[in-house]
Amino acid sequence: MSLYSMLKSAGPSGFGYGSTAEQVTAGLELSGRTYLLTGSNSGLGLETLRVLGLRGAHVVAVARTVDKATAALTEAGSAGTPVACDLAEPASVRACVAAVKALGRPLDAVICNAGIMALPNLQRQHGFELQFFTNHIGHFILVNGLLDLLTPQGRVVMVSSGAHRAAPKTGIEFDNLEGQRSYHSWQAYGQAKLANLLFAKELSRRFEGSGRTANALHPGVIATNLFRHMNPVLRVLFGLAKPIMLKTTAQGAATTCYLAAHPDAAAITGQYFADCNAARPSKLAQDTALARQLWTTSEAIVAGLA
Ligand SMILES: NC(=O)c1ccc[n+]([C@@H]2O[C@H](COP(=O)([O-])OP(=O)(O)OC[C@H]3O[C@@H](n4cnc5c(N)ncnc54)[C@H](OP(=O)(O)O)[C@@H]3O)[C@@H](O)[C@H]2O)c1
Repeated sequence: MSLYSMLKSAGPSGFGYGSTAEQVTAGLELSGRTYLLTGSNSGLGLETLRVLGLRGAHVVAVARTVDKATAALTEAGSAGTPVACDLAEPASVRACVAAVKALGRPLDAVICNAGIMALPNLQRQHGFELQFFTNHIGHFILVNGLLDLLTPQGRVVMVSSGAHRAAPKTGIEFDNLEGQRSYHSWQAYGQAKLANLLFAKELSRRFEGSGRTANALHPGVIATNLFRHMNPVLRVLFGLAKPIMLKTTAQGAATTCYLAAHPDAAAITGQYFADCNAARPSKLAQDTALARQLWTTSEAIVAGLA
């Protein structure tokens, strides 16, 4: 536990910066519940898988390959079903949707946790910048494909980031989604994470009148594989900051577990959470017109994919 987390107090939810996923789910009985989780094989996803399993849930553990998902379930010691899904490959996402439908299990929550960050050079997939495509478009296809399975009180949880503030000035650069005009690694990550937030916001609006919810969150800053593209100097500084500032993985998975499973979060929707409490995202993340424009653009992108 870092020095900083020892100094921070809990917020209105009763949890805070220092809370762990085990603490926010203490006493919860999740037997009979099913959670679908992307990025289940590493970092925050693996801890989320472990803790949901610990509370008795069945987790549909999604990873790039079945082998990775199976290994994650074994490592976490959780009961669940391994399913393959490469979020950067629409055919793979659609196959995942079909496989999950075939399980015939209603989903209590879909947790979109997988992500890539700050790729140093522009990479494209199906013509689009890879972070936007993986983090947003992949999850857009997945969640929309699974909506029929979501229970009437089902929750969609988008693991976004405080780095959504690094998005371009206009938020989503609809005229630069291929990176054809310019590419900045952190700005592209910020745009993709802003897209996660806007997606949750628009989905929440579409859920109005139902018992379903959609929220986004910042998990904190945690040393995971996510930082593999970081330049070596920053990586050293990051290592030094770890005992002072950074969250542990156990703390990093707490806000996800709170929004996905805690009874107090059942009616919360359209919100951005950090440290297990409601937080204020950037102005752009609150822009409902931008959220709608992203949704219609994403639909058009998906319709044009093979
Ligand atoms: N760690 C932080 O400080 C931090 C801060 C803010 C937000 N976040 C967010 O938290 C989430 C989890 O990150 P983490 O820190 O746990 O990082 P991580 O350890 O690198 O885990 C990322 C996960 O995403 C998966 N993934 C990446 N590309 C994929 C693809 N094309 N298809 C399917 N799965 C893919 C990875 O699979 P492979 O192992 O196969 O690559 C891995 O399971 C991310 O959305 C990240 O943006 C993290």
